[in-house]
Amino acid sequence: MPADTPSPSFPAPPRTLRYDGFAIALHWLLAALIVGALGVGLYMTGLPFSPLRLKVYSWHKWAGVTILALSALRLLWRAGHRPPALPPSMSRLQLTSYRISHTLMYLLFFAVPLSGWAYSSAMGMPVAWFGVLVLPDFMPLDRVFAEAALQPLHKYSAFLLGGVTLLHVAAVCKHQWIDRDGLVQRMWPGPRKETAR
Ligand code: HEM
Repeated sequence: MPADTPSPSFPAPPRTLRYDGFAIALHWLLAALIVGALGVGLYMTGLPFSPLRLKVYSWHKWAGVTILALSALRLLWRAGHRPPALPPSMSRLQLTSYRISHTLMYLLFFAVPLSGWAYSSAMGMPVAWFGVLVLPDFMPLDRVFAEAALQPLHKYSAFLLGGVTLLHVAAVCKHQWIDRDGLVQRMWPGPRKETAR
């Protein structure tokens, strides 16, 4: 089948309904990093104190800071580009939940890494991004506050991000297999047809 031909399970939307290649690449890179940071975060806290634990904590922090930087880039992209139009068949309720969940995700893309960085700062564990760039500690050293407030803030905001991400995936599946409106094509990597302006 030629690359441009729509498949029955992925009907192509009208030509103006796709994000551009940069936005698509950023979306999938961030998705992989967020799922990875969540998984590693859950795994590492159960490790006994060891060199492995220290190494995994560093990987987690590097991934988290990368997520923060890429989220800033994504916000800049978003400020300069209008996203492609949504399918006209979407109901008012769908549009409202789309807006609420996307705003919440954007907030969490910043809140989760920033709370992790704040926690590390307040615990006196500075972050060296990829072992090279030492990030400033933007919280005063206060281990009691870190344990009582920042650690739970990081943990539960990360869980909320995980939950909203699951809802996001569920909504995409519904659009794909129940509504069959081709929404997933907006963000699907593949041959470029038409970009957002
Ligand atoms: C979107 C990015 C991030 C996600 C999704 C994420 C997710 C998580 C999760 C799920 C946990 C385990 C929570 C628990 O069960 O106690 C965790 C722990 C932790 N995270 Fe992150 N995190 C992110 C970014 C960061 C960043 C940027 C830093 C620091 C620079 C960081 C530092 C930590 C630390 C130190 C812990 C361990 C807390 C403890 O020892 O109890 N995280 N993170």
